[in-house]
Amino acid sequence: MFIASLYNLKGGVGKTASCVNFAYMAAKDGYKTLLWDLDPQAAASYYYNAHAAVKSSVKKIIEHSLPINEAIIHTEYSGLDIIPADLSARKLDILLESQHGTKKYFKNLLKELSSSYDFVFIDCPPGFSNVADNIFTASDAVLMPVIPTTLSVRTYEQVKNYFGDKEIDLSKLMCFFTMVDIRKNMHKDTMQHLHKDMRFFEHYIPHLSDIEKMGIRNAPLEVFAPSSYAATCYRALWGDIKEGVIE
Ligand SMILES: Nc1ncnc2c1ncn2[C@@H]1O[C@H](COP(=O)(O)OP(=O)(O)O)[C@@H](O)[C@H]1O
Ligand SMILES: [Mg+2]
Repeated sequence: MFIASLYNLKGGVGKTASCVNFAYMAAKDGYKTLLWDLDPQAAASYYYNAHAAVKSSVKKIIEHSLPINEAIIHTEYSGLDIIPADLSARKLDILLESQHGTKKYFKNLLKELSSSYDFVFIDCPPGFSNVADNIFTASDAVLMPVIPTTLSVRTYEQVKNYFGDKEIDLSKLMCFFTMVDIRKNMHKDTMQHLHKDMRFFEHYIPHLSDIEKMGIRNAPLEVFAPSSYAATCYRALWGDIKEGVIE
């Protein structure tokens, strides 16, 4: 079972849009796939029309009163399951603190599912926290979408430093560019600069209105716009990721 989390210190960078598309493409490739929505905003759950089967399920999972497999629901797509987020996820940091602040909590929890899934995608809330530490520890790859602006370079450095401070294996950190406007010099220059770091996948996701439409269609791109340029870009990037992590 390969665990990939979609993470960035910043919000609004394309974590959820990417998580929803990658999970769908993994399932379509025949991998048994689980998306765990850990962002209390529950946007990934919304894209998949998924509602938590049990009230306060995140809280109950952490407190051991709900086995994790009982929080899983099937999506309408074959091979793709989801643990939807609910509002109790907003207290996740405090809940984890009450579990003696361990960093291995998610890792151990997900071990229970290792024979059921090939891929787990975690849609993360932004920020540095106990939640992030737990997700980094559990993940085989931390996939970080980066909008190529000057400020994002700073965020990228902050995340790398955080990995260093917390002694998290930096080779887990794999990045890709999102919301790219290739006509902008700042985007081009920033991409060129960051590519030197060898931590970025070759293919990138441009700023495209079809991706915004996922919120109206409540579905991944492959479902409602499979021949769009946006879907083509996500397929190419998914190809890079598979090559980077499994092949
Ligand atoms: N490549 C893109 N082009 C245009 N809009 C995008 C793109 N990726 C995401 N969006 C839109 O930007 C907003 C933030 O994206 P989202 O995936 O929710 O970010 P995050 O999960 O990092 O907060 C959403 O409205 C989404 O539809
Ligand atoms: Mg999100």
